Order: sequence, then C-alpha cells, then structure tokens
Amino acid sequence: MPHGVLTAIRGAAESLVVQALEAHGQLQVTRRCADATELLAAAEAGLGRVAVVSGHLEHLDREAVDALHAAGVLAIGLADPTGPWAVERLRGAGADEVLTEPHDDATAADVVDAVLRVLDATPAPRPAPVPTHPAAPAERGRVVAVWGPAGAPGRTTVAVNLAAELASRGAPVLLADADTYGGSVAQVVGLLDEAPGLAAAVRQAGQGLLDPTTLARLSPFVATDLRVLSGTSRADRWPELSSSALESVWSVARDVARWTVVDTGFCLEQDELLSYDTRAPQRNAATLRTLEAADVVVVVGAGDPVGIQRLVRGLSELSELGLAGTRLVVVNRVRASVAGPRPAEAVAQALARYAGVRDAILVPEDRAATDTALLEARTLREVAPGSPERRAIAAAAARLEALVEALVTDARHAPEPAPAGVRG
Ligand SMILES: Nc1ncnc2c1ncn2[C@@H]1O[C@H](COP(=O)(O)OP(=O)(O)OP(=O)(O)O)[C@@H](O)[C@H]1O
Ligand SMILES: [Mg+2]
Repeated sequence: MPHGVLTAIRGAAESLVVQALEAHGQLQVTRRCADATELLAAAEAGLGRVAVVSGHLEHLDREAVDALHAAGVLAIGLADPTGPWAVERLRGAGADEVLTEPHDDATAADVVDAVLRVLDATPAPRPAPVPTHPAAPAERGRVVAVWGPAGAPGRTTVAVNLAAELASRGAPVLLADADTYGGSVAQVVGLLDEAPGLAAAVRQAGQGLLDPTTLARLSPFVATDLRVLSGTSRADRWPELSSSALESVWSVARDVARWTVVDTGFCLEQDELLSYDTRAPQRNAATLRTLEAADVVVVVGAGDPVGIQRLVRGLSELSELGLAGTRLVVVNRVRASVAGPRPAEAVAQALARYAGVRDAILVPEDRAATDTALLEARTLREVAPGSPERRAIAAAAARLEALVEALVTDARHAPEPAPAGVRG
C-alpha cells in the first residue's frame, strides 16, 4: 500500500512536488492543503504519514510541527531560497528534514528522496515523541515551579523572595512569571517596563530562534544575579504564554541561570477536557507545562483552615496528574489568630494527618514586612532581613539546594535513567 503524503505548499513548487510524488509508486498524495489549519486537520484524521510544507506557510511554527508529530506525521520543510533564516526557522520548528524549495524536476525529485528517507528512518507508526525534558544533567540549571491552589496563598511572594534568596547565595537566578490569570511579578520587583518578556521568549522559541543570549536580553537584572522574565499583567493576554514553545523557553533557561524560579497560575484543570476544540489555546497549559518541566515543585498553601484544605486537595491533584515528583511544601501566613495559640504545631499536625506531609516549611504571617516590601518593590531580605518570615523563606532556599543536591546524587547512583514521564 502506498504511503499517504500531505502537502501544504505555496506557489509554483506545489505542482512540481505533487507530480514528482505521484509518479513514485510507493507514495500517494492524499490531501493538498491550502493552509496549516487544513494540514493539521488532515494529519489528525490520519490521512498521511508525511507532510511536505512550505516554510513561509502562515502559522507553521513549533507548535504546528509538534501537533503533526503528535498525530504521527513527519514533516519535511521546503525553505524559501530568498527568505532570511528560512532553513534555520524550519529546523528550529522541529521539521524532520529541510530542503530548499524545488524549482525544477530534478530538485522536485530530491523532495521525493527526502520523503522516502524519513519514512525509511521511522518505523510505522511513528514512536511516541522523544521526551522534551530528559533529566537535566548536573551542570545545567534547575527549574523550580512555584504553584499553589486558588485563594492567593502567596505564590508570588514566595517565588520572588525565594529567587532573591537563591541569588544572594551566589548563583545566577532567573525569576519568571507564567501566571496566566494576571501576573504580578514585574510589579512586585519594581519593573516598570510593561513589555512581557516571557511572551516574547515564547514567540521566539515558537520560531526556533530562542537562544541563551536572546533569553538573557529579554530578562533584565533587578539585583545582583537576579534576572526577571516578566509575564502578562493583563489577564486577557494569556494566549501568548500558553504554547508548547514554553517548554523550549525553560530548556534554554537552564543555560541562562543556575535556577529558574517560575511563578505559575493556580488552576490545574486540563482545558482540552473542558472544550471540544483541542486546537484552541489552553489557558492552564502554561502552568501544566511548567510543572512538567520543573525539577522541583514548591507547593504554597495558606495557613488557615480553608487554605490547608485546598492545599491538601491540591497536593493530591498534583499526584494524580503525576506532577509531584520532587516537591517542597510551604505553608504561608501561619498565624495564631486563625490557627490557635500554637499555630505552627496545629498546621504541622493537620498536614501530617491529611496529606502525610511532615517536612513543610512554615512561613509566619508578617503584615508589616510584606507590605513594606510590596510598597517599596523590594524583597524581604532587603527590607526585613531579621524577620521570621524572611528567615523561613531563606530556609526554603536552603532546602531547595539540598533537594537538588539529592537529585544529582540519586542520578549518579541510579542504574539507568527513569523512563520518560515517570517521576517518583
Ligand atoms: N507571609 C505573609 N504575611 C503577610 N502577608 C502576606 C504574606 N505572604 C503574602 N502576603 C500577602 O498576601 C497577598 C497575596 O499574596 P501573593 O500575591 O503572593 O499571592 P498569590 O498566591 O501569588 O496570589 P494571586 O492568585 O493573586 O497570584 C498579598 O497582598 C501579599 O502581600
Ligand atoms: Mg501571584
């Protein structure tokens, strides 16, 4: 049976390629698509095993190529010989082979050869895509996701101050805001520039153009060793962050900083389960992809009865989604007025009893210190270095270092790497 080939080619090259493909006995052009949307629909309908696409097709980015791969379709990119960076863009987008757009029968035959080559190299059906996040080697930076359930438990406060503590310990840190429900990191650290650095990084990554230098340029320093990649403070701009290219941003970040600390949204619902449109951008994808990419997840809960109950439920949700491999639980705003005369003990007991967590870091409520930091757009270690709140977050930073050290030791002693997707 001939192999089905999908095409989405612009201009004169289209008929050249289709004729050459049709002339080959083992290949059959099953759909000539007008644009990327039609191509993806045909791929998802299982109409072909290979797609031959023009590089200058609109919306042909990394996300589109990922979607082709997910549908088991290989991608051959035809680069416009006059377009700047045309070959690099297609490679960056993840095309399996890249050729210059054909202009005659001989060059069209090269395209047919490429189709046969990729088919040959790939047993049918195409195996599951290579894991995008193999265990990071020890010398690359670590990604820490700061997550917490609804109710503003203090994800941003913990993320910002944790990043500042890690930076003060002499390691380059990148603090990023991936909260798609209205990011506030930039404002909290006093960055006046409204430009969302993360959205720009995602755009560049989507085109295969993000490298460490570019990412560093998008992340200004706000203190020694502390860079900030701002998010979108306007909640309606969330689609700019919810792209599969976000994974590439975190991968590049590992070469920019020793630690990448990411503030995330609260919601873990998988939008595609809520909607029939699986192509639509997904608001919670940024959080879910970040949690998947992270080496350690810092789970922040609030130290009141409602906050603790949400935290317990949040921890089990994370486990159900397979996202709680290595985690550090932080209970914030612990105070006697809501948890009794010995609040730390009460919170610790509740966590042990309902979530089996015995190693949480408890951060006391400190209205004055937190407000001063917020008002002056500075960190707790600058405005209230001796406060118990700051000391608890510094302890969380030390714990993170120990956790990561343990990961490195485990990896050295492990007989072979764990299979993709299996985390603890
Ligand atoms: N330990 C603390 N003591 C006193 N106030 C705190 C403490 N931690 C956080 N806060 C305050 O609680 C509020 C919520 O904190 P924060 O913005 O960090 O939460 P969040 O989980 O990021 O919320 P959002 O859902 O809005 O992103 C802020 O006003 C912050 O200043
Ligand atoms: Mg926040």
